[in-house]
This record gives sequence, structure tokens and C-alpha cells, in this order.
Amino acid sequence: MATYVCVVEPFARVHVTVVDEVKAYPEEMLQQRGAQWLTASELASWESMQAKHTRRMEWLFGRIALKEAVCAWMQEMHSMKIDAKELIIARTEAGAPQATWAVDRALELPVVSLAHAPGVMVAAVSGTESVGVDVERVDRQATVVARVLTDTETALVAQEQMTLLSAVVAKEAASKAVGLGLGGDLRRWPIVAGSPSEHFVSCVDDPELLLKVDFLNVPGLVLGVCVVV
Ligand SMILES: CC(C)(COP(=O)(O)OP(=O)(O)OC[C@H]1O[C@@H](n2cnc3c(N)ncnc32)[C@H](O)[C@@H]1OP(=O)(O)O)[C@@H](O)C(=O)NCCC(=O)NCCS
Repeated sequence: MATYVCVVEPFARVHVTVVDEVKAYPEEMLQQRGAQWLTASELASWESMQAKHTRRMEWLFGRIALKEAVCAWMQEMHSMKIDAKELIIARTEAGAPQATWAVDRALELPVVSLAHAPGVMVAAVSGTESVGVDVERVDRQATVVARVLTDTETALVAQEQMTLLSAVVAKEAASKAVGLGLGGDLRRWPIVAGSPSEHFVSCVDDPELLLKVDFLNVPGLVLGVCVVV
């Protein structure tokens, strides 16, 4: 397992964790990691989770990635060393992750976001209002997306300012930053402008909204981060 850290100046940090041999992880090793990183209530939720092995792994490694990122952030921003078990990764009703204290502490924690692709976990943390992150492996086929592009998006693809995959990533990252998620409808989050390094996303429910998604240069991945200041 390897973790890389990218900084989205000056507001956010993104931790990319690559988990090799996802399917080969034995249950015993997962149990050890769970006991090492999760609070008692998180461990109970994880142990009672009715899901396939890969989803249970994804959930666990996602929580570890988020906690690692929050601990590193607190160390860097506040010179405060905290233990992973002093944090709980809760979720909003809509499913967005939130870092909260498991112990009595007053200091504000950063906002967080999480995304997974096969064998990859990406955790973003930020001291701003909100953050959204999404990741896809570059070889993922997104041809079906072509059917739901707006005229502007079609033009951006034709001008090589965006790809079908970067469009999906930008929409996901922006919709996560708002805390809603895509809701299964890519058309709800139109891209109104962009270049290969950044896309600007709006929302059909709020056309005034303009969210910038930055793309990070990580080999093999399309990784977008939306920081709302
Ligand atoms: C819910 C949604 C965020 C899930 O996205 P996904 O592509 O399936 O999965 P990702 O790995 O990118 O992200 C999953 C993480 O997003 C986070 N998330 C879930 N709901 C969220 C929300 N409302 N706001 C912000 N973050 C959210 C969670 O942390 C989740 O991981 P966890 O369940 O392990 O905690 C959302 O965008 C969605 O509706 N997806 C459906 C897929 C879809 O419509 N695809 C069409 C494109 S081809």
C-alpha cells in the first residue's frame, strides 16, 4: 500500500492511496487494520456491514485514507498530533463523509471528501467551506456519457479541452463538494467552460453556481478536486 500526497495550493491536500492486490487481502489483515484505525462504533458498523469483500475493503481503506489525511492536516496546520481513534468519520443523510471528534475537543476539523477507483482511494481535506473529489482510472470507458452531453460540453470535447472521463470526474467532484452527489444524473451538473487542467461546473437547479474543478497530475488516474472557498 502506498500513499502519495498532492497539495492544491493553498487550500487543500489530497491523499492518493494505492492498494495493490485488493482482492488478495486476507480478512485477518483487514481485522487488524480495522482495530488499529477505527473507533469502537466504526468497527461495529464495519463488522456488521452486509457487503462483498471488496466493498468492505473499500469502506475500510477509505476511512483509513480520510483519517490519515485529517491527522496530517491537523499536524501541519495546528501542530497537533492526533490519533486516528480520536476521529469519527460520520456521514450526512445524503452520504457525504464528515470528520468529527470522538473525544472532547473544541478545534474545528477540516472538511473532507472521498472517492475510490479499483485499487485506489483518494481522500481530500480542506480548511475551506467544502471540498469534493473524484477519481477514475484513465482506461475506464465512459462512452455512454457522450449521449448526455450539452452542446457546450460536446464543443469542449471536440476542441480537446475536456474528455468524456474528465467530464464525469468534474461533475462528480462538483456534486460532492455541494454535498449532493450526482444522484445518477450527469445532466444536472453541466460543464460551462474548461481547459485540460480545470473545468467549470454549474447546476441546473442553481444556474448562478459556478464550481471550479482542478485536475491533479497523477499518472494513470483522472483526478479532480473541487474546493469551495
Ligand atoms: C453517491 C455518489 C457520490 C457515488 O459516487 P461513485 O462514483 O459511486 O463512488 P465514488 O468512489 O466516486 O465516491 C464514493 C464516496 O462518495 C462519498 N459520498 C457519497 N454520497 C455523497 C454526497 N452526497 N456528497 C458528497 N460525497 C458523497 C462517500 O464517502 C462515498 O464513499 P463511501 O461510501 O465509502 O463513504 C454519487 O456521485 C452518485 O450518485 N453516483 C452514482 C453513479 C453515477 O451516477 N454514475 C453516472 C456516471 S457514468
